[in-house]
Amino acid sequence: MRDEKIFKDNWSFLEKEAQKIKKISMRDLFLDKSRANDFTQSFSDITIDYSMNRINKDIMKALFNLAESSDLKNEIKKMFSGEKINITESRAVLHTALRNVSNNPIYVDGKDVMTEINQVLEKMKNLSNKIIKGEWKGFTGKKIKNIVNIGIGGSDLGPKMAQLALKKYSNRDLNFRFISNVDETNFYEDVKFFDPEETLFIISSKTFTTEETMANANLAKKWILASMKDIESIKKHFIAVSTNAGEVKKFGIDPDNILEFWDFVGGRYSLTSAIGFSLMISIGYDNFYEMLKGYHEMDMHFLNADFSENLPVILALIGIWNNNFLGYNNIAILPYDEYLSRFPAYLQQLDMESNGKSIDKNGDKVKLETGPILWGEPGTNGQHAFYQLIHQGTKIVPVDFIGFRKDLNGEKDSHDRLISNMFAQAEALCFGKTFEEVLETETKDEFLAKHKTFEGNRPSNKILITELSPKTFGELVALYEHKIFVQGIIWNIFSFDQWGVQLGKVCAKKILKEIQNSLELNHDSSTNNAIKWYKNI
Ligand code: F6P
Repeated sequence: MRDEKIFKDNWSFLEKEAQKIKKISMRDLFLDKSRANDFTQSFSDITIDYSMNRINKDIMKALFNLAESSDLKNEIKKMFSGEKINITESRAVLHTALRNVSNNPIYVDGKDVMTEINQVLEKMKNLSNKIIKGEWKGFTGKKIKNIVNIGIGGSDLGPKMAQLALKKYSNRDLNFRFISNVDETNFYEDVKFFDPEETLFIISSKTFTTEETMANANLAKKWILASMKDIESIKKHFIAVSTNAGEVKKFGIDPDNILEFWDFVGGRYSLTSAIGFSLMISIGYDNFYEMLKGYHEMDMHFLNADFSENLPVILALIGIWNNNFLGYNNIAILPYDEYLSRFPAYLQQLDMESNGKSIDKNGDKVKLETGPILWGEPGTNGQHAFYQLIHQGTKIVPVDFIGFRKDLNGEKDSHDRLISNMFAQAEALCFGKTFEEVLETETKDEFLAKHKTFEGNRPSNKILITELSPKTFGELVALYEHKIFVQGIIWNIFSFDQWGVQLGKVCAKKILKEIQNSLELNHDSSTNNAIKWYKNI
């Protein structure tokens, strides 16, 4: 049970501390030589240095109290044990079961879900091996060379981001494409140079009803049939990943080519389910399994470690501190690694679809700020684009810098430069450069010196990882998944539904009918005008 009294006491304490600490500079806070060590925590291959946030030990203690009084320990246990914590959809939340490599039973409605999870994993292993070895032949007997994942949201962002992140470990003989947007350009630009006879589509959709995915799947079907002119060719060129076997069969995909998953896996948490099948083809089963092990290690750490040593809990609390007490309403994810270039986009869905809520678990309007606006790009590109605002703008942007010790491509000099930039940016954001320092070192012109001054005191975390491998990648993604969970618990909102995406879908269906037929328009004048403009009326 949440202890509202302790929660409120700590909340009020933190509100007061926020006002006090805003008046203390990071330079002063770092006079304490043990600060970096005091606010650094490691687990397995990941170290988080969160000392460059405007915190002190009392603040951290009160933040941990917030977590305790939100009954976080118990809520974590409920999720891992398969309780139906996704109340508004009446579902368990068991992405952690997908990577439960220790294989202890987990029950939902009296059934051990591990049996089916292991069966699907085995099927993925066999199918991916066949494709990698060239034993899976297209309808005309040609080897498959092109893998095209069609899906959107969680059925696209995870596989696409991970395929890129783990490219170093990938099979370079195969081409991979990811089609998500309903814009036909996405389909034609990505597949038009492929030979249909060598192309395999993976239609990834939990529901198998998502408009964009079904429209693209139908384009793919048309493209395959135009080339092979035989309905039987569908069997050799389509695999489906879905919870909805009925709809998959209606589409014409061979039931043997269905990879199942379950409603206890949320779309944005589904990368380690069969939704990751394209990734498995890319990196092979063994690497995929290493990734699952990394996820599982972080899962167990999250479940078992004390909050004061628990990386997802610490990251979540720092986020809450910045968001709720210092009023910084967004967060930038800045990976200093090109392989992670899609990681911010992936986290955008994970975080914003989970915690972009304004009704709490009691059905009341929330009285506190919930999920932040999340955005980001890989460094150092961002340094030459939007970092100006992060350093000198009026908005404060808390940053997660992500960097790796080892370079993967043997160019140590480039890697040294990359990581130096990351450390330098964190340092510059934190300590800035005073007006007096500018006058002393750069110019005697006071007008110019004002423009060259950096206020500093801008918060960041350094997430330091030994090297980018399937295992550390799994640890990293699980770290953020659980961070988001913790924040949802503290804000007392439901993190596993996404009702906010429904209204737009319903409106689009109605408008599509109006665009494709002669119907009376009864929207507002702006929407009516837009429809008329499109129809060129
Ligand atoms: O509309 C949002 C959403 O439901 C996401 O939560 C989900 O990841 C995406 O659409 C795709 O859904 P599906 O896998 O069912 O096609």
